[in-house]
Amino acid sequence: MGDEAVTSAPVTPEDGAAGESGLLYGIVNEIISSPLNLVLVGVITILLYKIIRSRQQPTTLPEPEPELPRLRRDFTVSELKAYDGTQPDGRLLVAVNGTVYDVTKGKRFYGPGGPYSAFGGRDASRGLATFKVTSSSEDQYDDLSDLNASEMETVREWEQQFKEKYIVVGKLLKPGEQPTNYSDEVEQGAADGAGEQPRT
Ligand code: HEM
Repeated sequence: MGDEAVTSAPVTPEDGAAGESGLLYGIVNEIISSPLNLVLVGVITILLYKIIRSRQQPTTLPEPEPELPRLRRDFTVSELKAYDGTQPDGRLLVAVNGTVYDVTKGKRFYGPGGPYSAFGGRDASRGLATFKVTSSSEDQYDDLSDLNASEMETVREWEQQFKEKYIVVGKLLKPGEQPTNYSDEVEQGAADGAGEQPRT
């Protein structure tokens, strides 16, 4: 009876190392005695491991793509076709209402496989005017003269959006029209799109 009294005595901090190991033993015993506790301990261990690992791994952001040098020139319809994003530099140009825009930053829209890839390297005016994702005729300049007033208004609204979002490269040349020489242009004027004459 005397021995039992000693082992069942409550553990106090004063009991020192012996008391701590007794407490630990009790906890371990409690855990292994129940399968549910074992499962819980397993789950907690996995979660802790994941938290610690995620803190150790620095989040790596994707490298920003290098910006292409500014392009400033006019294009014929057939010259424009090369800029559909399939060239090694991935440059993408789209013409809207007589103005050519560099839409490379919108390659998820206009690049190969994108929802509007039919506009990449093309004059998108007619498609935008008529809400069809098809470009104007393959190789010929499209003067849009058969579009009605509301369709032309739609083109102008899109044109405004492109102007706000993308950099102007130059004009889409009409047949026989000579390209503008932009070499004397100051950088700011170029950024503002000086030189292009949209169809009205
Ligand atoms: C079911 C029909 C359509 C849906 C649900 C749709 C949806 C969208 C969405 C979600 C965006 C992305 C906007 C952003 O992230 O900034 C977008 C962009 C665009 N959509 Fe559509 N669209 C549809 C039809 C069309 C049609 C018919 C055209 C023209 C013919 C068109 C032309 C465009 C263009 C040009 C952009 C890209 C604008 C830019 O460069 O920022 N969409 N569309």
